[in-house]
Amino acid sequence: PIVPVILSGGSGTRLWPLSTPAMPKQMLALTAQETMLQLTAQRARGDGFAAPIVVANAQHADLVEAQLVAVDAAAQALILEPVGRNTAPAIALAAIAAGGGAAPLLVMPSDHVIADVAAFHAAVDAALPLVVDGWLVTFGIDPHAPETGYGWIKVGDEISGGVHRVASFVEKPPRDAAEAMLAAGDHAWNGGIFLFRADAYLSALAIHDPAMLAACRHAMDAARHEGARIYPDADAFAAAPSDSIDYAVMEKADRVAVVPVSMGWSDLGSWDALHEISDLDKDGNAHATGEGGEVIAIDTANCLVRSDGLRIAMVGVEDLIVVASGTDVLILPRGRSQEVKALIKKMKASA
Ligand code: GDD
Ligand code: MG
Repeated sequence: PIVPVILSGGSGTRLWPLSTPAMPKQMLALTAQETMLQLTAQRARGDGFAAPIVVANAQHADLVEAQLVAVDAAAQALILEPVGRNTAPAIALAAIAAGGGAAPLLVMPSDHVIADVAAFHAAVDAALPLVVDGWLVTFGIDPHAPETGYGWIKVGDEISGGVHRVASFVEKPPRDAAEAMLAAGDHAWNGGIFLFRADAYLSALAIHDPAMLAACRHAMDAARHEGARIYPDADAFAAAPSDSIDYAVMEKADRVAVVPVSMGWSDLGSWDALHEISDLDKDGNAHATGEGGEVIAIDTANCLVRSDGLRIAMVGVEDLIVVASGTDVLILPRGRSQEVKALIKKMKASA
């Protein structure tokens, strides 16, 4: 069976004030009753899938465990990182925990939206034969903006049934390069979801970042086990260089393939992105409330309003994002939610 590997290490700043370091995006219910983590686990459950290996910050252990149990998707291994070292080491820990052999790992961020799960499963099935053969596979999203925060893949020749060679991989390009790739029409965004054999990933890491692999192996050799919980050795893991799978492995490795797939994907990187994928009322509003929240609106259009706790009342406004959580309220025009990052920086500076 395929072993789902769920990465739950995000620091959760872009959906402030709902997401916070203690309660990052993946722990929140944003698009459904289930949280993003729960939806991720449910997407890779049942026939053909083993129980997931989850890699998370040790600070979130209880929360992660409770959320998975609540949807009947308890982890076979919950790897608890003492510090974040980005995705390449996190995936190495999971590959080692999976036994380091031929098991195919389906690596998934815990905070993405996939509306069409059947299309996702079909893409995974299409990739499997090549994966068994040792290829590293990623999933390609049809690009619709010159995003500089994504990896871009030049889609090469088809190898077999819907799976293509990666002609080139450019992680987080500058703006002009992103615009050129969008215009060229033969590129895809890297969806950040990967499928490969555990041994294929570890072999690639042995070539491209042997020091990282050594640190991860030491950390796992000296790990403390507590039921399904695995605590990698803190000193050994701290010695691992911090790098993403994209820079450390995907940009450099041979035999990298991409499956272009249209599956209603979003990485929900901003409040604007949430508005884009939400079910809207007839006036274009996405209103949602968490515990105790209430939204009352007259003559409002194209707004995203979310309240956990406060009552929000509004009249005669358009194109606003309003989010209340605890003692914090965020107000901004739609289209500017990337600037939440700048707000957080400013709040930190004045704290
Ligand atoms: N366990 C663990 N530990 N998880 C981590 C860590 C870590 O140290 N760092 C990041 N993650 C998790 C995040 O929670 C997220 O779910 C996922 O790994 C990807 O990390 P991001 O930090 O969000 O990556 P990115 O957005 O900069 O870029 C990646 O995703 C894009 C698509 O959303 C890349 O793969 C890009 O190429 C891709 O386009
Ligand atoms: Mg991301």
